[in-house]
Amino acid sequence: MSENLLMELNGVAKSFRSADGAPRLILDNVDFSLAKGEIVALLGKSGSGKSTLLRIMAGLIASDAGKAMYRGKDICGPALGVAMVFQSFALFPWLTVQQNVELGLEAQGIPPAEREMRADAMLELMGLAGFGGALPRELSGGMRQRVGIARALVTNPDVLLMDEAFSALDVLTGETLRNDILELWDSNRIPTRGILIVSHNIEEAVMMADRIVILSSEPGRIRNEVKIELPRPRAVDSIEVRGLIDDVYGLMTMRAIQEVRSGAVPVTHVDYRLPETDVSRIEGILDLLAYAPFNGKADLPQLSEEAELSDEELFPTYEALGLLALAHIDKGDISLTPLGLRYAEAEKTVRQDIFGQQLLTQVPLAARIRQQLEQEPTGTLPEEPFIELLEEFLKADEAKRVLEIAVEWGRYGEVYEYDFHTGRLKLPDQEEK
Ligand SMILES: Nc1ncnc2c1ncn2[C@@H]1O[C@H](COP(=O)(O)OP(=O)(O)OP(=O)(O)O)[C@@H](O)[C@H]1O
Ligand SMILES: [Mg+2]
Repeated sequence: MSENLLMELNGVAKSFRSADGAPRLILDNVDFSLAKGEIVALLGKSGSGKSTLLRIMAGLIASDAGKAMYRGKDICGPALGVAMVFQSFALFPWLTVQQNVELGLEAQGIPPAEREMRADAMLELMGLAGFGGALPRELSGGMRQRVGIARALVTNPDVLLMDEAFSALDVLTGETLRNDILELWDSNRIPTRGILIVSHNIEEAVMMADRIVILSSEPGRIRNEVKIELPRPRAVDSIEVRGLIDDVYGLMTMRAIQEVRSGAVPVTHVDYRLPETDVSRIEGILDLLAYAPFNGKADLPQLSEEAELSDEELFPTYEALGLLALAHIDKGDISLTPLGLRYAEAEKTVRQDIFGQQLLTQVPLAARIRQQLEQEPTGTLPEEPFIELLEEFLKADEAKRVLEIAVEWGRYGEVYEYDFHTGRLKLPDQEEK
């Protein structure tokens, strides 16, 4: 391991048992390193294994395969020098702020007087002077997370791992805290030599990190890296930052679709998944995109802003538009296809026709449901076999959810019907056999 590296993962894999006892591969063959002086942001969809990876690095869980090292030594159990901040604050409610912060030091056997002194200094540094005697519930979310961070930093960690440390906070509070940490880091007021942040928020990653690493899903693998060489503090509205956000955006949305199309991912893995979005949102975004100021083509973050929704909330919708071939997504841009433009101008029944046709040609799950219904003399089938099919690679609740989406889309496109009383799928009425 090079002198310059703080942490190194080679070929790390991890499986968990799903509800039915079968192992599910969450992380596969992950190579990753954190060098001295670096802030790295790890991005990936929900469930891609980001927290799992962080917990392996923190020594909270062991990997099944591969090597995980901290300063050249195998990680086995929490290492002195590696501290973690959790999204949920994870404070002890019955302990005061001061006691919560001192906890990590206690575990290291540091005598009470020194503990108190260091905790005081850290509370001061984190803007919590005077709150040592308070209980966590007496503090706001932002202050509680400051306590969580103070508790991690008070041990003078060499490596700081932050799992969505800002995402439970409102935007402004998150931003302030983020900036405070960057300031401590950039002015060398903390001895920490490397920071890894897990985030859902592309802007946050671009504003903070020296390098962004994107984890793919099912199983999680590192699939892209983006280096950021802009000095901090960075201006959120600068051309450079907006451009980077676009790039990362594009890497995150389009890849999943391309992977399916190119067959890079085994079909059974992703084929039947559907993005978590509904018809009205798909159409809402399509309409927004079709007319001024966008006129068919937009920068994804701008479109999100215009829609007054977060990127995160809109990812699945963009994915759906791409999946249905109504839009084309390239890097951070989205543009309507000729079909998408026609769709935008069409009245409802024509829209439904196009939607149905796209379902049958582009969405394997919908096509499969339709095909099997056509093979039935009665034109109806219970939903269970389809849920079971999905459960082969999805968790039970995810499988149900995917079928619900397929039902909603299919009903709108008049590809099949669903009886909510009996839970049966059937061919649309006029087509019944
Ligand atoms: N202890 C566990 N036992 C079984 N399954 C687990 C366990 N921990 C995580 N998983 C599963 O592993 C997958 C990855 O989980 P993980 O929490 O690492 O994802 P994540 O990328 O952090 O997601 P999010 O962005 O939602 O926080 C999920 O499907 C999760 O349900
Ligand atoms: Mg997580």
